[in-house]
Amino acid sequence: MAEQSLVVRGLNVAYGESKVLFDIDFDVAPNQIVCCVGRNGAGKTTLLKSIAGFLKPSSGAATAGGVNLIGHRPYDVARMGVKYVPQDKKVFSDLTVRENLELGSYATKDYNWDRVMEYFPKLKILLDRKAGFLSGGERQMLMIGRATLGNPKVMLIDEPTEGLAPSIVTHLKYVFGELSKSAALVIVEQNLPLVCGIAHKVYAMRDGRIVAELPGGAALTPAACEPYL
Ligand SMILES: Nc1ncnc2c1ncn2[C@@H]1O[C@H](COP(=O)(O)OP(=O)(O)O)[C@@H](O)[C@H]1O
Ligand SMILES: [Mg+2]
Repeated sequence: MAEQSLVVRGLNVAYGESKVLFDIDFDVAPNQIVCCVGRNGAGKTTLLKSIAGFLKPSSGAATAGGVNLIGHRPYDVARMGVKYVPQDKKVFSDLTVRENLELGSYATKDYNWDRVMEYFPKLKILLDRKAGFLSGGERQMLMIGRATLGNPKVMLIDEPTEGLAPSIVTHLKYVFGELSKSAALVIVEQNLPLVCGIAHKVYAMRDGRIVAELPGGAALTPAACEPYL
């Protein structure tokens, strides 16, 4: 079998005394888009943060392309080609769009500007604008653009379309398709029509556990996902 882009096995994570993730197993093949759905508080963000190095699991394994990720700091996980796009869309308001983009790949200096400008022509116009002036949609483009700039192998994207206009959601859908040609994508997403339009596989989470794995294809419908929300 070809090597998986991301493999998580038996991952347990707690905030202090409070256990939040229980024995998570998760697989993402190269060029796959895997979506993660579940109610607020199910543990989706905690899962992405743990893979990205922001939280230290109490046990379990996570590897990208066969390389261990656990125990490394976020900066080092990013350098290994695993890029995390957090839910909060926090940009450096006083820096320009260009500076914000560059920061994401500062460690590797592996910049692919052409690709970012191709996917997000809007950002090209805004390159010298202070990021604090961007709209929510532009901010999300900046976040995803920043992760894209360094030629990621795996992208972990947390609720990218939350609060965005339908036209931007449609654009992001196209971008995710393009990104998956060169990377594996894990997308936490509540927009079920979007999920069903892009996912090769869906993991449903509830109370810190993966409770269902739904394959992509015609049977993957919003109605099939709804019981898990
Ligand atoms: N920093 C934190 N400290 C303590 N508990 C937290 C923290 N962040 C999240 N939690 C708890 O962990 C659980 C999972 O949260 P989270 O991963 O954010 O879920 P989701 O992203 O699915 O909404 C929730 O019960 C939440 O209250
Ligand atoms: Mg979350």
